[in-house]
Amino acid sequence: MYFIGIDLGTSGLRAILVDQLGNFIASSESKYEVSNPNPGWSEQNPEDWINACKLAFLELRGNFPKEISKLKSIGVAGHMHGAVLLDNLNKPIRPCILWNDTRSHKEAQRLDELPKVRDISGNIVFPGFTAPKLLWVKNNEPDLFKKIKTAVLPASYLNTWLIGAAFADMSDCAGTSWLDVKLRKWSEHLIASGGMQIEQMPKLVEGNQIAGQIRSDLASELGFPKDVVIVGGAGDNAAAACGVGAINEGQGLLSLGTSGVLLISRDQCKPFPSAAVHTFCHAIPNKWYQMGVILSATDSINWLSQISGKSASELDQLLPDEPTGPANEKFFPYLSGERTPLNDAHIRAGFAGLGQTSDLAKLTQCIMEGVSFALRDCLEAIRKTDASPSSLLATGGGSVSQFWLQTISNTLNIEIEKPKSGEFGAALGAARLAITAIIKEPIEKIMTKPEIERKIMPNQKYIDMYEKAYKAYQKGHTNLRGLQ
Ligand code: XUL
Repeated sequence: MYFIGIDLGTSGLRAILVDQLGNFIASSESKYEVSNPNPGWSEQNPEDWINACKLAFLELRGNFPKEISKLKSIGVAGHMHGAVLLDNLNKPIRPCILWNDTRSHKEAQRLDELPKVRDISGNIVFPGFTAPKLLWVKNNEPDLFKKIKTAVLPASYLNTWLIGAAFADMSDCAGTSWLDVKLRKWSEHLIASGGMQIEQMPKLVEGNQIAGQIRSDLASELGFPKDVVIVGGAGDNAAAACGVGAINEGQGLLSLGTSGVLLISRDQCKPFPSAAVHTFCHAIPNKWYQMGVILSATDSINWLSQISGKSASELDQLLPDEPTGPANEKFFPYLSGERTPLNDAHIRAGFAGLGQTSDLAKLTQCIMEGVSFALRDCLEAIRKTDASPSSLLATGGGSVSQFWLQTISNTLNIEIEKPKSGEFGAALGAARLAITAIIKEPIEKIMTKPEIERKIMPNQKYIDMYEKAYKAYQKGHTNLRGLQ
């Protein structure tokens, strides 16, 4: 039996084909654009995702016809919070407003201040979340707003295309501000507060629950078996946690991608919105996760890379493998505002402590440190919920840097595990959700941890120095606010 997992990412779509043990067979990728029609706006054309998905399916079918003839199930993971507005025919009526679009910050604040909103949703209404986007459309594009039959998330849109009816999974919907995250069901109160109606919401399923069968015309077009089923799928972070086996209490994930994520799996739902911690349903039943999200992790290094003309790996090579204490220079990584712990769409990045000897190596070092301090802020926020990670598994492009991982370990005073290179991202998590719907094995047997290449222990010799530097960094928040 074979399975497909899809990661609908911000810059492109990746589909992987796996066997019933989750072993990687093949992958196919294709890219698409983000458009920024106004400052702070970030949009994508949902039809581009469908075209990318079709291309990936056809490539896999072309290269692996025998395996595809035994395809059983498909899982889709997607970037969260995006608003895809569908008409009566399930066609998008405008481009999708993405997770990193901040145009609806005023609507978000207004919603966030309403009674019971944080209590039921378990979260701050961040400007990137879905509900404030719909309020923005209502206020600014009233004619389009009237045409909305259903509002879905990006992964849910691909799923809707695959089976022909709108449905969505709990983990993704937890980021809408319309879901009662503890009870795992739509909240009429939240939906009404956001100016919407419950009839406009897709049907809810768990991530590893079968939502329906692939449309037969699509199965014929793609050359897929007619009985392939589609599972609920997941938001990308929940799927990434499934991909590394972070599904039980305290199992943690550190993702150093465009944004940075510190995620801890929970057996109970214990929201703590005032710390700007995200509390979301996991992609498997009766589990939740909590995470801190920082908006510019590798994006901060990419920014330096762009202005210095050196690639991220050339910048990393300016540094030794082992850090020997923090730099005098400080960097505050708020290039696109910040979520955890600041919830501030307007704050912007800054350097401090620059001197005549601050060269490119020092700037690289202090940017990596700034991101590490921001992740420490996330850890402190998560600790307020009483969660405590014992170790963190590192993923994402930034985790190739030994210097960076060691700096994070020293700053967080936590062991970090670096997996052997291989497949363990959101696409694998989505494929694992597809497997658990069909193969009747305990979830733990399918959602295992990857093989670990090395463990990075905090270097006790430098812990106090990083602690002191973190305390100094914390003062930066207050001083940077209102400077721009
Ligand atoms: C999570 C978040 C991002 C997106 C994009 O809350 O906004 O991680 O899911 O990957």
